[in-house]
Amino acid sequence: MKRTRVELERELAAFDQQHVLAFWDELDESGCERLAGELARLDLAQLRELFRGEVVAEDWAETARRSSAPPARRLSDADAAESTERATAAALEALAAGHVGVVIVAGGQGSRLGFEHPKGMYPVGPISGASLFQILLEKITARARVAGMRIPLYLMTSPATHAETVDYLRANEHFGLPSEDVRIFCQGTMPAVDAKTGRLLLAEKHCLALSPDGHGGTLRALSESGCLADMHARGVRQLFYCQIDNPLVEMCDPVFLGYHLLAGSELSTAVVCKKHSREKVGNVVSVDGRLRILEYSDLNPLPDEIVERRGADGSPVFWAGNTAVHVFDVAFLERMAASGTALPFHVARKAVGHLDPAGNRVEPRKPNAIKFERFIFDLLPEARQGIVVEVDAQRTFAPVKNAPGDPTDSPETVRAQMIALYTDWLRRAGCEVAEGVTVEISPLFAQNADELAARISPGLTVTAPRYFC
Ligand code: UD1
Repeated sequence: MKRTRVELERELAAFDQQHVLAFWDELDESGCERLAGELARLDLAQLRELFRGEVVAEDWAETARRSSAPPARRLSDADAAESTERATAAALEALAAGHVGVVIVAGGQGSRLGFEHPKGMYPVGPISGASLFQILLEKITARARVAGMRIPLYLMTSPATHAETVDYLRANEHFGLPSEDVRIFCQGTMPAVDAKTGRLLLAEKHCLALSPDGHGGTLRALSESGCLADMHARGVRQLFYCQIDNPLVEMCDPVFLGYHLLAGSELSTAVVCKKHSREKVGNVVSVDGRLRILEYSDLNPLPDEIVERRGADGSPVFWAGNTAVHVFDVAFLERMAASGTALPFHVARKAVGHLDPAGNRVEPRKPNAIKFERFIFDLLPEARQGIVVEVDAQRTFAPVKNAPGDPTDSPETVRAQMIALYTDWLRRAGCEVAEGVTVEISPLFAQNADELAARISPGLTVTAPRYFC
């Protein structure tokens, strides 16, 4: 229902937010509609509560002190080989039965990489220049081909990445995935507010400063877009979740998926053993007997005596780094969506460009605003039988986060890790790869060392850059 300026003003004034109408009289009809539409989608009472709650944010030092290392299936477990075999068998059965789907969260832009497009379009293939989208979508095709069964993809975008992602994937024919197996859905947004006053910021005279609501928005967006219903209708029971930024992700990893199934878990998390105590990854821990993730941004500012705490057996409490790879039971997501269990919001202080009261654009250098985000992993404490499974960082975890030239998680470090992995596969298959030669293997050629060994003859010598595709 269309609301008049007077009505809007009255509603906004109840929350001291009427300043966003300052330029109303200058707007044309579409500008008024846009602003009124954005305002209609806000929950001003919630926003006020969130802003006030900011003052009593969680005491991370206290939570960190109460944390203990999570019970986990470790790579070094004595029965690893035997249990891995059983897990793999269970996963392959589920894949072949069509019970598995994939959700990839790709709401981020490549701005940290200096790339003004959706991050998924970033070219990361060391020889092919294949984008993150291409590599991850080809991995789904490869897994589906071996399973002999389709694997639907649910791809989450944000308002900033949606249209370009849709166009890009359509132009590239979804990199081989049947279009009926690809659903692209858009996450919601949250407004940024002034850090001192809690007042909304205008990005332009006709629109608010909005940003994606965090990957915790996945739950609501999956539900509202009809994707959960689609999974239900297709008989998808497990959802493999990953982020767009990791080209080494083992798509629908049969070992991880299998452990999830054997444990009857509703939400499982793949972790890596952290390289050092302040590595920039979330920390999977157990707090009061429940699994949780403490973000590096909350843990790392704390003193050494907390961050480097050790448990009774002498091993580090914060060893389990979140790879952001999970398996969700679809029934669990349905239950969470229906229960209206609201994930908590996390606050981040950011520099957010906006209009000043005179309508001039301001680009602050220092954080001036608060953004609110939900994290999907805050569902962890709600899940029954949740498990944690350690995976090999060298083989499966190489997220692209930082700009070229950065010593960690940059395009160069990620490519180097890809090349090292493919070189290792080739050597294990009996090939000779000259030192320093760049090799790349398309997921459509082989998904792992065993598949590669079955495709090439031992004795092959690689002395010049080569893309196996
Ligand atoms: C994230 C995890 C961290 C984990 C690490 C592994 C969070 C809060 N932390 O850290 O625990 O160890 O990845 O690489 O996620 N995204 C959206 N919509 C949003 C926000 C993010 O789709 O609103 C997607 C992005 O496209 C990106 C991913 O989520 O692929 C991760 O976001 P990012 O901000 O890069 O998280 P990190 O701080 O690196």
